Amino acid sequence: MATSADQTGPEAASTATADVASGASGTPTVTLRLWRGDDTGGSFNDYTVDNLGGEVVLDVVHRVQAEQAPDLAVRWNCKAGKCGSCSAEVNGRPRLMCMTRMSTLDTTQPITVSPLRANPVIRDLVTDVSYNFAVARRIPAFHPGPRDADGTYRMAQVDADRVQEFRKCIECFLCQNVCHVVRDHEENKPHFAGPRFFARLAELEMHPLDTLDRRDLASRELGIGYCNITKCCTEVCPEGIHITDNAIIPMKERVVDARYDPIAWLGRKILRRPAPTPASSTASLSPAGKAHETISTQPRTPAGG
Ligand code: SF4
Ligand code: SF4
Ligand code: FES
Repeated sequence: MATSADQTGPEAASTATADVASGASGTPTVTLRLWRGDDTGGSFNDYTVDNLGGEVVLDVVHRVQAEQAPDLAVRWNCKAGKCGSCSAEVNGRPRLMCMTRMSTLDTTQPITVSPLRANPVIRDLVTDVSYNFAVARRIPAFHPGPRDADGTYRMAQVDADRVQEFRKCIECFLCQNVCHVVRDHEENKPHFAGPRFFARLAELEMHPLDTLDRRDLASRELGIGYCNITKCCTEVCPEGIHITDNAIIPMKERVVDARYDPIAWLGRKILRRPAPTPASSTASLSPAGKAHETISTQPRTPAGG
């Protein structure tokens, strides 16, 4: 949303234009329109507080909590964009509240803050992200081969650099939240890992020391074929990870290579190169299995987003 004026600098109070609401003290105010409720339903409530300048959305949410709504539920930890826990939808856009400066928003209008739409609501701005942890358990961990004769592992710097991008993930799950495959389709969750976990698969598959082959898992069980490369996930990633271009597309290519490329098959035959060990999910994949039991099927309740 376009910013009509930066209301947050030191000069803001003296230069505030007439259309900016002011409190009794003359300090500019801002209205947060916060979603309040739980898994049974809820609504947006308005809270008007001073707009002090130099703040991020999480600061203002905390001030609402301190001054007007002590029972407001909001999840956060680091306030530095590194723990991934303050994810929410600010004016309908998935953001980290601690990294969204008030000066980038139009404070002449109410600013809506709602819980992540793709997850079931626990209370207010806090959602149940356990689907993501259930998916994580289905991906076999890093599995290196034996060490070199001198007891070390070696890998080229270019290989380290390639997977390092994916290691930046803070598990904020903003990418999961915007992916249309699950955003409004709770029923797809058991069959679709989502962009964060396609990046995790790519990180492991591209690691030169890893010995497992997760391509069949990615295709048959984790639904990489459902992704139609819209790049919405990449657009919201606060770490700037090129999820689609650097993880999903290469993973799709590897899946195709594994299943359909006759030249690769012939090459393996001629060179007698052993195929990597196929990996299967570390959690049960049956409808009655653990992974499915932990995936909530509660419908999302808030409107917005
Ligand atoms: S690119 Fe694929 S994974 Fe990312 S949001 Fe679009 S459909 Fe989902
Ligand atoms: S890939 Fe980016 S958007 Fe997705 S969980 Fe990791 S840091 Fe968040
Ligand atoms: S509070 Fe840790 S990322 Fe926002």
